[in-house]
Amino acid sequence: MLIKLSRSSECKASEITPESIYLSRRALMGGSLAALALGALPGRVGAAEVSRYADVQAGHAPAWFADKLAAAHWQAVTVKDEAITPFKDATHYNNFYEFGPDKGDPAANGESLKTEPWSVVVDGEVGKPGRYALEDFVKPYQLEERIYRLRCVEAWSMVIPWLGFPLAQILKQVEPTSRARYVRFETLKDPERMPGQRSGFALIDWPYREGLRLDEAMHPLAILAVGMYGRELPNQNGAPLRLVVPWKYGFKSIKSIVRISLVAEQPGTTWQGLAPDEYGFYANVNPTVDHPRWSQARERRLPSGLFSPNVRETQMFNGYADEVASLYAGLDLRKNY
Ligand code: MTE
Repeated sequence: MLIKLSRSSECKASEITPESIYLSRRALMGGSLAALALGALPGRVGAAEVSRYADVQAGHAPAWFADKLAAAHWQAVTVKDEAITPFKDATHYNNFYEFGPDKGDPAANGESLKTEPWSVVVDGEVGKPGRYALEDFVKPYQLEERIYRLRCVEAWSMVIPWLGFPLAQILKQVEPTSRARYVRFETLKDPERMPGQRSGFALIDWPYREGLRLDEAMHPLAILAVGMYGRELPNQNGAPLRLVVPWKYGFKSIKSIVRISLVAEQPGTTWQGLAPDEYGFYANVNPTVDHPRWSQARERRLPSGLFSPNVRETQMFNGYADEVASLYAGLDLRKNY
C-alpha cells in the first residue's frame, strides 16, 4: 500500500477522548426527510434537498435511492461523543487506486465512473445465483444510517454516517449452500473509466478483490452501503455499492462492487496478494499488532493538521470488540493479522 504517514503521530494523553458505542433504535426526523425527498424533482433528487448534514455537496441520486431514503431508519447505529468527520474530508481524502494513488485523485478523477445502469452478479455456492440490476438488488431492504468509525491501515481515521443495509440480509436471500464458507467481492474493472487501472503504478492485479469469512459477513455490523451523509455515495467513496466492515482496516471495505461470490476456500485478496507480510486476510483493527513498518497503536483522526494532529489511541477492533471479539475466539491474532 502506498503509505504517507504524518510525522506528527505522537499521542498526548489529553487528546484521547473516552468513547463507547451504543446501538440506538431511534428513528429521527424520517418523516420530514421523506416529505422533502418526495417533493423533489421527478426521477432524480439532489442531495441539497435531502441531506441532514451541513456542507454536503449535491449529488444526482437515481429515483430508487430517493424512495429508499424516504423510509430510512436514521441513526440506527451511532458512536457516542465523537464528531462526524466533515463531508469535505470524507470525500477529498480517499483511497481508491482505480482513480490514482494520491488522496485527492479519487475526487479529481472519479467523475468518469458510470454508475447507471449498474448490476451485481451473485454466484458460487448459492441456491439463487443471478445478475441483478442494482435497484432490484436493494429493493427489499430498508436503508439504515450507520455512523461508524473508519480506521485505515495507514493510521488515519474518520467517523462516517453510511446509509446501507446488513450484508447478512442479501446473503440469506441468495441461500448459501452448505459448502459456502467465505464471501469474495470484486470491484468493477473498466480501464477506460478508471485511469488507475491503465497505469502500472499501483502494481495491482485488477480487479480489486476482497473477502470475508461467512460468519464475519453475516455479522450485523457488516453492511453494504449505497449512501453517506444523507445522500447517495459519491463516486470517490465507492458508488454505487460498497462494503463497510467497521472493525477491520479500511482496505477490507471494497468499493464499487460488481460481483459477490460465495466460495468454499479462503479467497485471495488484493493487498494480501501484493504484500502478504504486511496485509493479512483478517485485517482486524488491532493496536497490539504493528504493521512491519509502523505502529498501529495510534491514529490521526481527520481533520488533522500540523498544529492540531488530532491523534488518539486506536481501540481493539476499532471500538467494536464487545460486538465482534467472539468471532475470533481461539484464533491467534498475531498470526492471523
Ligand atoms: N476499494 C477499491 N476498489 N479500491 C481501493 O483502492 N481502497 C481501500 C478501501 N476500498 C480501495 C477500496 C482503502 S485502503 C480504504 S482505507 C478505504 O477504501 C477508503 O475508503 P474512503 O476513501 O471512502 O475513506
